[in-house]
Amino acid sequence: MKSFFARKSQKPILERCRKDQASLMRQKYAPWYHSMDSQHKTRVEMNGKEMVMLTSNDYIGLTFHPKVIEAGKKALDEWGSSTTGARPANGSRRYHIELEEALAAFLNKEACQVSSAGYISCSTGIASFAQRGDVVLADKNLHSSLWDGIRLSHASMERFSHNNAGSLRTELELLDPDVAKLLAIEGVFSMEGHISPLPELLDVADEFGCFVVMDDAHGIGVLGEEGRGTANHFGVEDRIDLLVGSLSKSLSSTGGFVAGDKDTIEYLRTHSKQTIFSAAISPSQAACAKMALQVMQDEPEHRERLWANVEKYKKILLELNLDTWGSETPAIPVVLGSKERAYIFWQNLLKKGVFTVMSIAPGVPPGKDLIRTAISASHTDKDFEIIAEAFAYAAKKL
Ligand SMILES: Cc1ncc(COP(=O)(O)O)c(C=O)c1O
Repeated sequence: MKSFFARKSQKPILERCRKDQASLMRQKYAPWYHSMDSQHKTRVEMNGKEMVMLTSNDYIGLTFHPKVIEAGKKALDEWGSSTTGARPANGSRRYHIELEEALAAFLNKEACQVSSAGYISCSTGIASFAQRGDVVLADKNLHSSLWDGIRLSHASMERFSHNNAGSLRTELELLDPDVAKLLAIEGVFSMEGHISPLPELLDVADEFGCFVVMDDAHGIGVLGEEGRGTANHFGVEDRIDLLVGSLSKSLSSTGGFVAGDKDTIEYLRTHSKQTIFSAAISPSQAACAKMALQVMQDEPEHRERLWANVEKYKKILLELNLDTWGSETPAIPVVLGSKERAYIFWQNLLKKGVFTVMSIAPGVPPGKDLIRTAISASHTDKDFEIIAEAFAYAAKKL
């Protein structure tokens, strides 16, 4: 009989894990997976040092809002820590239904389904509707959750150039007019901060009969009346068939949603493997999101402060001649063009007390290696002083 160690070394997958270059490099340079010892609003403590957090997606800055925290605590007391099961089996709770109704009303849709992660909602928003034989038209810069949804659907896929209605039309003209088509887009692109040119894309989509799925994880709270998102910003809410997104950005929680008309959401509840076989969102997460949604509507000053902060920050970057890839939103990349330059820049920001995240190819297109930053309504003038000094230092060191 072979020894335990001999058997272990004959496992090709174990060998692959041990020798994986990407994992070895990640551990050597350690740009990701840092551990923070504490956090209060935009300040985190890491290795005994206080830092300004400049990557979190807390756009409206409600994660420490007293009403949001109170709502989460109350839900824990009332409903316990978890439903410990999926809703078709264990049943929904009143707080699920209330959150879904509040979100549907806010997004101007008939119905909504929430899940325990934005990733689940975004991927199921495609996987449950497209099927083998259909074609998904995909903006080439989509988020990973949408690519996974496309793969899970077994539909075939055509990419079109980022935010380019002409390129979408070219792809559609080559397809069989009778085949079922789904257009997958984002309202605000998370890495680039670009706003989708919705009216032009929707004109093409309508002409070719595409079912339109839009991920607005980074548009909700940021754009539109009271933060209703990108479709509201352009006045085209009724032309988006399915709106998917996350509760973990402006809604200061964890979880995801899919919103659409009643028939579409009922179809989703029947066919979405990702939510039928996954435990429901927890009571405290749902309660935090619902309260954040209410605060967003009651207290517009948070969004106003967010946009004022975006202007302050962009001015700092502009004065240093840094490339923000034309971002139009609080998700603001600083493009450095190579992984080496991005790494040095990221390290120097860290040294000066600013926490950011590096994003390198293939996560971004080649030559677009960047530092991803995001502005919050919670950033203070003192934060911006630290940010300005740190960016000036990092730019000089390049
Ligand atoms: C555009 C986009 N869609 C979906 C998701 C997934 O959301 P969550 O983090 O809530 O799972 C993210 C989060 O990174 C995102 O940026």
